[in-house]
Amino acid sequence: MDIVEVLNPAPRGAIIDTHAHYDDERFNGFRDELLSKLGDMGVEAVINCAVDTVSAKRVFDIRERFPFCYCAVGFHPENMPDCEPNLEELKSLCSHDGVVAIGEIGLDYYWDKSRMELQKRWFEAQLMLANELSLPAIVHDREAHADTLSLLQKHKPKGVVHCFSGSAETAKEILKIGMYIGVGGVATFKNARVMREVIEVLPLERILLETDAPYLAPEPYRGKVCHSGMIIRVAEKISEIKNVPIDEVLKITKNNAKVLFGI
Ligand code: NI
Repeated sequence: MDIVEVLNPAPRGAIIDTHAHYDDERFNGFRDELLSKLGDMGVEAVINCAVDTVSAKRVFDIRERFPFCYCAVGFHPENMPDCEPNLEELKSLCSHDGVVAIGEIGLDYYWDKSRMELQKRWFEAQLMLANELSLPAIVHDREAHADTLSLLQKHKPKGVVHCFSGSAETAKEILKIGMYIGVGGVATFKNARVMREVIEVLPLERILLETDAPYLAPEPYRGKVCHSGMIIRVAEKISEIKNVPIDEVLKITKNNAKVLFGI
């Protein structure tokens, strides 16, 4: 697999990718080569989000070899076990070196309509764990905006709604809770009208840059295996939509990530 070269990369140290999955098997065979090149593409830090306790171990393994890769641990709605929430193992993983968040957690009614009630119970239990441990939550919401919002309003965690796909109205409600909005490759897609409206209403102080690598590569890399170096294209799009210099976009969003995750 060829690593996609990024033309005009971000300046060194300019970027924190707040959401990636470098443990994904699509990186097999070139993971270490790619991770060792990210610094030259402006990436200072990455948060690798586990989707269950097995992938948490893989994310820890990456952290050991590449200390700029921080960790989030949690059960993704597609990967949660078919039983009532039991967070004992997850809780013990939270004390591992490099863990800065509970994630990725949330609701996904696109892939899994059969377990909606169980998804809510797992999501709620993990939100409570995040609050108990004073860790931010990294939240996944796919076609479940109303239920996600009502559980976030109930528990008011610190954190981010990643790869935000709701309306500008929903975004404003999330801001009221005090949370951040994760903006990634979708913002650069030609048909992303709603996402552009969302970016217009969001203050830069509440935006986090993210990839969701290996998924959702921004234009002009759409369809390729995504990596954190590509985030500069997302930052450029935000700069264009908000009419703010790119340096300002990079500086403020990086600071947001540092404040939220304490890195
Ligand atoms: Ni993800």
